Amino acid sequence: MAKLIVVTRDGTEHEIEGDTGLTVMENIRDAGFDELLALCGGCCSCATCHVHVEAGASDAMPAMSEDENDLLDSTTDRDATSRLSCQIPFSDALDGLRVRIAAED
Ligand code: FES
Repeated sequence: MAKLIVVTRDGTEHEIEGDTGLTVMENIRDAGFDELLALCGGCCSCATCHVHVEAGASDAMPAMSEDENDLLDSTTDRDATSRLSCQIPFSDALDGLRVRIAAED
C-alpha cells in the first residue's frame, strides 16, 4: 500500500491508501470516485480516465505510449501534466502521487 492523493473536480483533496497491484485508475475507481468514468475498463480506448499529475511524478512513471498520446489529443482539457490513469501501474515508488481528475469532455 502507498499513499495516493486524488483531487476531485470541486478541488477537494482526498488521500487514499492505494493498492500497488492495481493501476491508478483502478485505485480511484475502487475508492468510489464516480467522476472518473473509465468506460473502457482500462484498455486505453476511451480517455475517460484522464487525470492531471500534479506531484509525485518520478522515474517510476511509465512512458506514454503512442495510443495514450493520441487518445489524450482527443480531450479538451489536455496539458503537459495529462495522463490516462489506466496506463499508470501504481507502485510503492509512486507513494504520494497526487492526481487531479480532468474536466469532463
Ligand atoms: S479507462 Fe479507458 S482509456 Fe483509461
